[in-house]
Amino acid sequence: MKILVTGALGQLGSELIPSLGERYGFDSILATDVREGNLKGVRMVKMDVTSLDSLKKLIRDEGIEEVFHLAAILSANGEKNPDLAYSVNMNGTWNILAASRDNDVKKVIIPSTIGVFGPDTPKKMVPPETIIRPRTMYGITKLASEFLGQYFSDRFGLDCRGLRFPGLISYSSPPGGGTTDYSIEMIMAAARGQSYQCFLKEDARLPMMYMPDAISSLISLSEADPKSLKRRMDYHVSAFSFTPGELYAELRKRRPEFTVTFKPDYRQEIADQWPESLDVSESARDWGFSPAYGFSSMIDDMLKHIS
Ligand code: SER
Repeated sequence: MKILVTGALGQLGSELIPSLGERYGFDSILATDVREGNLKGVRMVKMDVTSLDSLKKLIRDEGIEEVFHLAAILSANGEKNPDLAYSVNMNGTWNILAASRDNDVKKVIIPSTIGVFGPDTPKKMVPPETIIRPRTMYGITKLASEFLGQYFSDRFGLDCRGLRFPGLISYSSPPGGGTTDYSIEMIMAAARGQSYQCFLKEDARLPMMYMPDAISSLISLSEADPKSLKRRMDYHVSAFSFTPGELYAELRKRRPEFTVTFKPDYRQEIADQWPESLDVSESARDWGFSPAYGFSSMIDDMLKHIS
């Protein structure tokens, strides 16, 4: 199997690739990113997903059979630059799907996000089917990407799969311009003995998950028997929910000298539109989603690795 990963240098890609490499062999992976860079053990090609011609050529020449399409502009950066977010998230996804269809790719995995929800969405234990009217460019483009994946599956028989990630917490590669990034920044500051100014309100509760669980959920969904999948692009995953205030309190237990001040900015308006918690029962039922890390064990593991 030959696997293409886009957005390989991002927060998700840089951790998914080592896991894919260990599982399927590093030779089977082709990593691409719009930025110049290296990832240990895999071949890396600089490529912009908005360029359909180069994408088609790469998929054809390399005989790609499976794609993890991770390249995206996240919520906060998307509000700073909606034109770029539209181009990368919308055209990039179309290009991946069209190039995959035209070159007999077997499977395309596209992460989606809690960003697809909007101010009308209920707040607690939100199931995949609910009121979904996103008001950010990130949400609009990712929701459209879910529908495109469904369309390419129905219309062209391309096996597209996806899940909606909550905020993802990790230490090895920085997140790029998301609303949930505060959680990583706060833990990093605590681990390094610095103080932190939080850009969300103390009580902004959001669903979250630790990166090892995000990686195993992507791999489990991609390997699941298609007959057991009742949904296609919008499986929910999340391990816990917390507020910035609760994270601060947990960090103070471990680092009593740590201080946080709260100064909400435009990202609070994005967080206000998202649910507090997700119903993940369909993911558990259909492909065995079962996160290993809780709130407390995630914090301990983060601090151990950063310190
Ligand atoms: N972590 C993402 C963001 O904050 C949510 O998918 O944009």
